[in-house]
Amino acid sequence: MIFDFCGKRPKADNLNMPKVLLVDDEPSIRLTMGEFMKRAGYSVVTAADYDSAVVHEAEDLDVAVIDINLPGKSGIQLLQKLCAAEVYVPVIMITGEPNLSVIPEIVRSGAYDFIAKPIVKDVLLNAVGRAAEKKRLTDEKRRLEQEIKRYAEELELRVEERTAELIETHKRLVHQERIAALGRAAAQVAHEVKNPMAGLLLYSLHLKSKADKFGESEAALVDKIVDTINHLNRRVEQILNFARPVSLTLRPGDLNQIINHVLELLHPQLTANKVEVRFSPNQHSATAMIDESSLRGALMNLVLNAIEAMPQGGTLSIAIDQTGKTLRLEIADTGPGISEEEAKNIFEPFYTTKAQGLGLGMPYAGKIIEQHGGTISLKSRVGEGTTICISLPPAKKEVHDAS
Ligand SMILES: Nc1ncnc2c1ncn2[C@@H]1O[C@H](COP(=O)(O)OP(=O)(O)O)[C@@H](O)[C@H]1O
Ligand SMILES: [Mg+2]
Repeated sequence: MIFDFCGKRPKADNLNMPKVLLVDDEPSIRLTMGEFMKRAGYSVVTAADYDSAVVHEAEDLDVAVIDINLPGKSGIQLLQKLCAAEVYVPVIMITGEPNLSVIPEIVRSGAYDFIAKPIVKDVLLNAVGRAAEKKRLTDEKRRLEQEIKRYAEELELRVEERTAELIETHKRLVHQERIAALGRAAAQVAHEVKNPMAGLLLYSLHLKSKADKFGESEAALVDKIVDTINHLNRRVEQILNFARPVSLTLRPGDLNQIINHVLELLHPQLTANKVEVRFSPNQHSATAMIDESSLRGALMNLVLNAIEAMPQGGTLSIAIDQTGKTLRLEIADTGPGISEEEAKNIFEPFYTTKAQGLGLGMPYAGKIIEQHGGTISLKSRVGEGTTICISLPPAKKEVHDAS
């Protein structure tokens, strides 16, 4: 055992052998002391002066043993150079003969230890052993500090991510609650006008049955009254329909079929607006967990919006694709697009830019897609059309009731 004081001997494998730089202008000292240290389990590099010593990078060294008297630049200058390095290297100074006057300068310059000439083997090995252990502990402390820093950064990042998720969830819940509250308020008003409107319709139809007693213009007026009441009744129904709580029954369903059905139902509007349809059903992966009738209703609203955005004609492209675990559906039009400002509002109930619009199509579609566990978003640029992007969970084996 060489290091009695710490009871540790450097490991003998090359990778873990502490590396010692021995700097002395006397070849015999380099040779003998170098040999002692090698036998004690160190990897040793030697140098005769400052210039040949600084060739060795501080980060490659574990301990430096430096003679204070070197030709050219002094051992103290080499000590100062090593102490200024970014990594810590304990330096043991060899003083010429017992001469206490140099000690304060050695200490001030940052030496770890010093030994006096003539060098005694055990004294040298003891000092190098302590220095190597100090270096090992310093490196370990640095490594742990870096690890703690990395963990702290990771933790901070995770907290930020979770906070962002929570804010997003909170926003969604607030939005859903607002939609529900608006729906309830609208439904109350709709209920209140529903009965008087039924009465009005009856009176008007009664009047209409007596049309032979009127002149032509009065009969046309009665027709207008009946049309207006019917229009109002449809609106009331739409509002009530929007406000009604939806209870979905999710079953594996084919999106291709639903799209085809929607296109069939909207064929008159597509033809009237001269809209060219591009849709090639996806044969492999179009099965999702869906409530067919409400999803059809949601998609009707989206496709109708696309058609209404192209009154002078255009192209409606529908694509279905499975990416990873989600089924994606894109409905793209070549209409005027939606500005960023407008896009913030289009999922708000009763937001409309159309003279005859009600503003319930997008929020209804949003509500239904979300209840399917999916997401809906839009990509749009003014003048370049709009694409509505929907993702839905793909079909599972069991049948679910989402109510
Ligand atoms: N494909 C689209 N292209 C341009 N604008 C759209 C599109 N889809 C929706 N919008 C905008 O969103 C608004 C709200 O749509 P919606 O809720 O369906 O109500 P409505 O169709 O009754 O106006 C529309 O008035 C329109 O301004
Ligand atoms: Mg609409």
